[in-house]
Amino acid sequence: MAKYIINGGSKLFGEIEIQGAKNVALPVFASALLTDEQVIIHGCPLIRDAHNMLSMLKSIGSKVKLEGNTVMINCADADSWEMPDSLAKEIRSSIFMLGPVISRFKKAKFTYPGGCEIGTRPIDLHLKGLREMNINVREFSGYIYCETDEIKGAHIHLDYPSVGATENIMMAAIKAKGETIIRNAAREPEIVELQNVINQMGGRVSGAGTSTITIEGVKKLYGLTYHCLSDRIVAGTYMTAVAMTKGNLILRNTKDEHLYSIISKLKEAGANIKIYDDAISIIVKDRIKEMHLIETAPYPGFPTDMQAQMCACCCVSDGTSIVIENVFDNRFKHIAELIRMGANITVKNRVAIVRGVKTLYGTDVIAMDLRGGAGLLMAGLVAEGETIVENIELVERGYEKIDEVLRSLGANIIKSR
Ligand code: EPZ
Repeated sequence: MAKYIINGGSKLFGEIEIQGAKNVALPVFASALLTDEQVIIHGCPLIRDAHNMLSMLKSIGSKVKLEGNTVMINCADADSWEMPDSLAKEIRSSIFMLGPVISRFKKAKFTYPGGCEIGTRPIDLHLKGLREMNINVREFSGYIYCETDEIKGAHIHLDYPSVGATENIMMAAIKAKGETIIRNAAREPEIVELQNVINQMGGRVSGAGTSTITIEGVKKLYGLTYHCLSDRIVAGTYMTAVAMTKGNLILRNTKDEHLYSIISKLKEAGANIKIYDDAISIIVKDRIKEMHLIETAPYPGFPTDMQAQMCACCCVSDGTSIVIENVFDNRFKHIAELIRMGANITVKNRVAIVRGVKTLYGTDVIAMDLRGGAGLLMAGLVAEGETIVENIELVERGYEKIDEVLRSLGANIIKSR
């Protein structure tokens, strides 16, 4: 298992370009199944989850070519509706392939996606939506079997604004017969981006970004060339690292309107943040102050994917912060590891009370999930002494060359196999 070895204490200074968004690229890769023409995506994040998703497409016969950060996908020869178990279990987002696979083949056989490290990750809302679209969904001994003679548009209400379920239903509905309306849809920027991509391919989707999305079924979709939106969580992660190390950073290739909840919290903690046309700058001179309450919620609320990083930030703040994780049922696994570094945190169910301490101490810690691992890495940047973060394959699922990026900003971090 690879690990990061970090010697804390360096301030972060410099300028970085933010990578493409993992949670945009993954569903856009899946949408390539909706056309027989080539889909070209520039600015893709070169991360483990992206490689896994592309392997899934290849495993069912799609042609995939990667040149630098550009991915070319052509699904004209895709010939299998059965997703290999090993790949489907590897990443949660394999489930996003279900809608496009059914749309293409009128059937699908998938195993359940990995019950991710951050909770049970049910897919009941995905399957409920598909069933309402005249798709027969049978769950039997760990597999999901789907079949239909014709996908029919439906009026679907999601019990929870699930990102994945919204995206899956959108893609299943693109070439359905008639109109589909998704109510209580997720409003994340990634949903808006998927709508833009699908419409550029000839689809007819409207309302993304609001709670009601309307999809008019069309007969055919065409290829496209697309430049991936930048990753708001990666941008927020690096901003948090600057807040913790008291540094000075310019972030390029960011969309500030997707970062308002994170910017608001970091400003509350005393960060000096300026927004320019094509960049964001963050300067932190003194120890950050407490962020009274960080409560995760569906967009535009505070993103659950930033909870672990903010936890780490609060550990060294001058005061007490309350962190509440409302979205996932088991997303505090990083806290035990932070406590081993000297953090003062009390957890009660979904609430963590974080009392800031002046110093964290380096030690061996283990990444238990993608964003929790990023949080531990941030803690190592400020800890006294050496911190070893194990299991960093989880961090590399979502962060492109994070050790190189941090080193370029002055961090003392190396990756060892
Ligand atoms: C997407 O996951 C993201 N992943 C997650 O990012 C992100 O944390 C999450 O949305 C919330 O923003 C990708 O886009 C690849 P959900 P998803 O369905 O779609 C419950 C990261 O770190 N739920 O919105 O799986 C579920 O249990 C990852 O980049 C059901 O109950 O999230 C959770 O409590 C982590 N039934 C809540 O909804 C369902 O059928 C939110 O899940 C589906 C979800």
